[in-house]
Amino acid sequence: SIVILDFGSQYTQLIARRIREQNVFSVVLPCTASIEEIQAYKPLGLILSGGPCSVYDADAPPADPKVLELGLPTLGICYGLQYITHHLGGKVVKSDKHEYGHAEVSVVDQELPLFADMTADLTVWMSHGDSAIELPPGFHLTAKTDNAVAGIANPERRIWAVQFHPEVHHTRQGATLLRNFVFNLCHAKADWTPKHFIETTVAAIREKVGNGRAICALSGGVDSSVAAVLVHKAIGDRLTCVFVDNGVLRKNEFFKVQENLRSKLGLNLVAVDASGRFLSKLAGVTDPETKRKTIGREFIEVFDDEASRIFKEGTDEVAWLVQGTLYPDVIESSSVKGPSQTIKSHHNVGGLPEDMKLKLIEPLRDLFKDEVRRIGRDLGMPSDILERQPFPGPGLAVRILGEVTPERVALLQEADDIVVTEIKKAGLYQQIWQSFAVLLPVKSVGVMGDQRTYAYTCAIRAVHSEDGMTADWVPLPYEVLKTISSRIVNEISGINRVVYDITSKPPGTIEWE
Ligand code: XMP
Repeated sequence: SIVILDFGSQYTQLIARRIREQNVFSVVLPCTASIEEIQAYKPLGLILSGGPCSVYDADAPPADPKVLELGLPTLGICYGLQYITHHLGGKVVKSDKHEYGHAEVSVVDQELPLFADMTADLTVWMSHGDSAIELPPGFHLTAKTDNAVAGIANPERRIWAVQFHPEVHHTRQGATLLRNFVFNLCHAKADWTPKHFIETTVAAIREKVGNGRAICALSGGVDSSVAAVLVHKAIGDRLTCVFVDNGVLRKNEFFKVQENLRSKLGLNLVAVDASGRFLSKLAGVTDPETKRKTIGREFIEVFDDEASRIFKEGTDEVAWLVQGTLYPDVIESSSVKGPSQTIKSHHNVGGLPEDMKLKLIEPLRDLFKDEVRRIGRDLGMPSDILERQPFPGPGLAVRILGEVTPERVALLQEADDIVVTEIKKAGLYQQIWQSFAVLLPVKSVGVMGDQRTYAYTCAIRAVHSEDGMTADWVPLPYEVLKTISSRIVNEISGINRVVYDITSKPPGTIEWE
């Protein structure tokens, strides 16, 4: 693998992505990782990332300079170059002039294998304040801008560094540079493929779980389904998957998910229809946070009941909980400062492991979402699971403003079904992060035939997003909007007006509650 030490740059995860796109495994560790933690990954090379600090800051990340003594091929990027310079006897100066954005770099040492297959003039992305002005002993200049050091190297010690960001798209030949480092200098093999991942993960789960049993809460979405299929491959029906109808699923979803997971994927699935119990707890609740908490609490109770039936008391089997945690949930790369830093696990089934003493299996915790889809495809999973748009845990409840009643759930299920069907028909479903309907508590006057109507308003929302953190509203084609609107008003009695939400995030959120 290639280990990346994170000094807090917003681009650190991109470095890992770029390397993994070459089918080489790469992992990000906080820059404070111990030498043992680094070596546990059996690295073929090390990358020191960029970061927001100056080597002179009192709160500069306290990384152990011994990482430079490991003898591993090492690449410093931005702050990484300054870190190397500072700790190996060169000099870094604070500069008032911040170099940010596009820059032109001249390669001085064209023989350097790091720059193989690259031109002598590079257009790169810079983002730094401090600069190296004296190189450490044994290092030579490999690239420069008009007024600053842009690259240094000490091939004997196998240390290279660049001041610019090769991982950023704007650095035109950046991918080549990273490829040169990984293959020419670290001699990595391109064997990080879905097949390889599946084989090693399944073997590792089998060994870890032994004769134990595992349980998994399924939502029908990508992450939990792929995680479940991997664990099922390892331990078969000793994995029980629990799928709960919380009364706020989409139209026919309770049956579709069972069909997909049980019939098509062969999972050992317990489907619990708890819709009545959820809806009665939701009666009279209008506050968004109370809705979320009510659903969360109820879910834990239902799941708890199932788990205690599966893990019978008195047996000494070890009980495992499978979760579809992804890599972006695990690493909080911006928090490298201070002792409270770094790893944060999102426990989707919050609170459960505490009292049940379940041990966690998180087979996807090293993966990005698109990698999970690749794995899913390799596992032969159906595309309606793999391409499904994200759907919130509290389901339609956070898309029904005001009280959640069975009647209003039924109205929104119909509207949502029309939106999804028409977006799919228009070939837009996979290009859009989320597209859905929201039921508003607003009633207005309308006319149908000779009848006056007084009914609810439905809002349509469609957004593009990379990760759900920010989002842009999608300018859906008028034809699609027109079809959605006329179908909803004509086919659903109870809704007589459709509006389109043209708010991005921020300042709006994706969901309305
Ligand atoms: P917001 O509305 O905060 O949503 O812009 C960002 C992303 O998170 C999803 N979301 C949730 N997912 N439980 C979930 O599992 C929740 O309570 C929840 N609230 C929002 C939302 O669909 C969007 O993708």
